[in-house]
Amino acid sequence: MTGFASRTEEIAPFQVMAILQQAQALASKGVDVIHLEVGEPDFTTPEPITLAAIAALKAGKTHYTPALGLPELRQKIADFYQSRYGVTISAERIAITPGASGALLLLMAARLEAGDELLMADPGYPCNRHFARVFEAHGRLIPTAAESGFQLTSAQIKQHWHPGASKAVLMASPANPTGAMIPYPQLEQIAEQTRQLGGELWVDEIYHGLTYHDAVAATDDESNLASKRPQTALALGDDVVVINSFSKYFGMTGWRLGWMVVPEHYIPVIERLAQNLFLAPSTPAQYGAIAAFSEDSLAIMEDRRLELQQRRDYLLAELPKLGFKIPVIPDGAFYIYADARALTQDTQGFCEQLLQDTGVALTPGFDFGEQNANLYIRFAYTTHIERLQQAVLRIKTWLENKTGEK
Ligand SMILES: Cc1ncc(COP(=O)(O)O)c(C=O)c1O
Repeated sequence: MTGFASRTEEIAPFQVMAILQQAQALASKGVDVIHLEVGEPDFTTPEPITLAAIAALKAGKTHYTPALGLPELRQKIADFYQSRYGVTISAERIAITPGASGALLLLMAARLEAGDELLMADPGYPCNRHFARVFEAHGRLIPTAAESGFQLTSAQIKQHWHPGASKAVLMASPANPTGAMIPYPQLEQIAEQTRQLGGELWVDEIYHGLTYHDAVAATDDESNLASKRPQTALALGDDVVVINSFSKYFGMTGWRLGWMVVPEHYIPVIERLAQNLFLAPSTPAQYGAIAAFSEDSLAIMEDRRLELQQRRDYLLAELPKLGFKIPVIPDGAFYIYADARALTQDTQGFCEQLLQDTGVALTPGFDFGEQNANLYIRFAYTTHIERLQQAVLRIKTWLENKTGEK
């Protein structure tokens, strides 16, 4: 194929989508596929959100909104930072975007020069380095250790910083594919180190809200919960950028809506870019999202969080019995990053064969970086516990048969 920009050659396909396609092809042949590969839970959007969007559509709210989003929604988000985290953020610093993806694209368009480096953890969310590439910048994958929860440390940031080239550090907490959070004191050190190096800290908090700290009990009331919940990186100072989304915690993946909070002086440039690139985020999605902060919606999300926690705990107990090691116990999100080296040295082939033979779909480590990717597998506990039980049984029988064949 000719005529394509050379940068497109470095943009690898999202492997999980290839697995999903294979899984769908099997399902169309009547195979009962158990989806543990997809990064979105089986829950549909909470009803108060859907009803608010329908009402807005019926009321004729189908036109463009301001490029930075509806002022009412920006204010709701600012209020949420106050009530949930006790952090005061001006709504003027918030840009509503087409998903966290749209936020990351706008941020990189605004801040990265050609040739700049963006430091990020390996393993990590694969699209980030490709976004950087679109703007002729580079995502520098830094191998991380299980001891630091597969998160970058301030010492690594110092060690890998290239003066004149490195521009920013991008972290996710909780992270994909590991579910690991960065403890707040460590995040403080990272922010300080990055400032000293003259860089920027960008924190992706898309999985905030989906955390399973043991000390959080189902009976905790809202004020109790607030004191136990992880803190937002926005508390570190006005220079830190936070990316977030309605996709995961709020159950709105298909609506394509997210946001970011940026230093105030970024806003005119972000607005100009948003006007040109997207005109505005989706109008019905924004009206729906205003209802995402209602008590009813938050209660539904809390129930779902507890259900995800049960699923996580089930797999944490069962996977080691199958031979997987879990080097980092996930604090949040809906992923377990399992070390499969006792079972295979080729997780890509392992996952393909497992899918063909048993209908259980998993994501091999290759999607998330280079470091030992052939030894890791991501389990997404985005389906019912009964289905997880079936998946565990299928994998167990398959592994036993494989051993029997040898
Ligand atoms: C860490 C992380 N950031 C960003 C995204 C993009 O999310 P969205 O564009 O749906 O908000 C994802 C999606 O899986 C993710 O895992």
